Amino acid sequence: MALAIRTHEHPQNLEQQALRDEALRGFAASPKAMSPKFFYDHRGSQLFELICQQPEYYPTRTEETILRLAADAIAELAGRNASLVELGSGASRKIRLLLEALRPARYLGIDISREFLDICTRRLAADYRWLDVHALCADFSQPLKLPAEALGQRPLAFFPGSSIGNFDSHEARAFLRNLHQALPAGSGLLIGVDLVKDRGVLERAYNDAAGVTALFNLNLLERIRSELDSDIDPQRFEHRAFYNEQASRIEMHLVSRDKQQVRIEDRVFEFAAGETLHTENFYKYTPGAFRALAGECGFVSVAMWRDPAQLFSVHFLRRE
Ligand code: AVJ
Repeated sequence: MALAIRTHEHPQNLEQQALRDEALRGFAASPKAMSPKFFYDHRGSQLFELICQQPEYYPTRTEETILRLAADAIAELAGRNASLVELGSGASRKIRLLLEALRPARYLGIDISREFLDICTRRLAADYRWLDVHALCADFSQPLKLPAEALGQRPLAFFPGSSIGNFDSHEARAFLRNLHQALPAGSGLLIGVDLVKDRGVLERAYNDAAGVTALFNLNLLERIRSELDSDIDPQRFEHRAFYNEQASRIEMHLVSRDKQQVRIEDRVFEFAAGETLHTENFYKYTPGAFRALAGECGFVSVAMWRDPAQLFSVHFLRRE
C-alpha cells in the first residue's frame, strides 16, 4: 500500500524572506531581539529533539509520563473518531502516546519546518497504517485556516511541549483567539503548560551540561550566516539562559563576546561587548493563571493532570 499523506498548502511567507525581514528588524531594535520561531530550520528542529533527550530538560519527559497515564481519560473526553490536529508537531513523537488509546479517524500535523514535517508525518503514516495522515506547513502564531477535510466531526487540537510559553500574555491571547476561530464549537484542546517552580530546576533545563541548548541557540546565527548575505560569526557570541522571576519567564540570549560590527546585506549593526540578542522567552504558569487566560479566550477547563512533583501540567479544555 502506498503511504499517502496529504499535504496542504497555507498562504504564508515562511521562507528566507521571513528570516531576512526578522533579522533586519530584530538587529535594529533596542534591545536587539528575534522571534524564537526562527530556531526551527531542519538542523534547529533536530537540535530541539536532542534537547528533549538531555537529563536536565524535564518538560518532555514529564509531559510524556503525564500523557501516558492520562491517555484513557483523554480518549474518553475526546470521543471516538476524533480528528487530531497537532500544532508544532516536530518529530510527531508525543502523539504516538495517544494514538492507541484514542484511535482517531485522522491526524493533521502542523509545523513551520517543511522538510522536517514531511519526513516525520511520513514516518507516522508508515507506523500507523490505519491512520489518515495530513500535513500542513504553517506558522501557527499567525491566523490559521485549517483544511476542512482534515477537521472532520470531532477535532481535538493538541499543543504539547508548553510551546504556548513562548508567547507573552498578549501573544498567547491572540494565539488562543485564532485557534478559537479555526476550530468549531465543542472541539477539544489538549495543551501542555509548564509550571512555575524552583529557579535551579528551570535554569539547569536551559543550560544542559552537554551544551545542546547552546548549539540550538547559536544555530539561529548559523542560519543568518548561511541563508542571508551576512558576515556574522557565531563563534563571537555565547549562549545565556536565566530565570526572570518577576516576569515568570526563562530568557535566552546570545551575548556578544566583544565589541563588534555585524553586516546583514548592506546594513551594519554595532554590538557592544556583553550586549545581547534576546532570542527566546518561555513563560511559566500556575494552573489557575492558565485557566483564567484560556477562559478569556473562550476555552473552558474540563480536566488537568500533573506529575507528582508538579513540574508540568496538561490541560483539557473545550472550545465554547
Ligand atoms: C519548544 C518552546 C517548549 O522553551 O522549552 C528548549 C524550546 N528552547 N530549550 C522551550 C527550547 C530552549 C522549548 N519550547
